[in-house]
Amino acid sequence: MIPHTHDKPVIPSAVRDALIQHARATAQSAYCPYSHYPVGAAVLTADGAVYTGCNVENVSYGLTMCAERIALYKAISQGRRDIVALAVVGGTSRHPATPCGACLQVLAEFADAETPVFIRPLKSGRGVDRVFSEMLPVVFQK
Ligand code: THU
Repeated sequence: MIPHTHDKPVIPSAVRDALIQHARATAQSAYCPYSHYPVGAAVLTADGAVYTGCNVENVSYGLTMCAERIALYKAISQGRRDIVALAVVGGTSRHPATPCGACLQVLAEFADAETPVFIRPLKSGRGVDRVFSEMLPVVFQK
């Protein structure tokens, strides 16, 4: 179980680092013959389970799916909606891959304002830690 403080999940640094490693390892599976831009993602659920994804491109280009949505859809389709963190690995230290707006709107369905988003370059190096509301402060709602 992930420890909670004030009912907010606090991600221990070892759990965070393991999540990032899962995302980095999964970037190795990226199918990106058109962009040559591998991305890996990993979502953490409240019991510590991890679901991973990589980008899967298509010759049509438009059918390409991002790493983040694959990881999220894997968790949801396994019955896990309690997403407590997302790690994304891609790009360079100078320009690490940040989740696109479409993936953030999907994450909004299952995350809250404080959900951490760990952004790291493809190769080990510095990245940035954000929370969901910094990435997408206003989401579409009905
Ligand atoms: N991509 C992701 O998988 N996640 C992101 O956050 C940004 C973009 C993929 C889509 C495409 O396969 C490649 O990166 C280049 O845009």
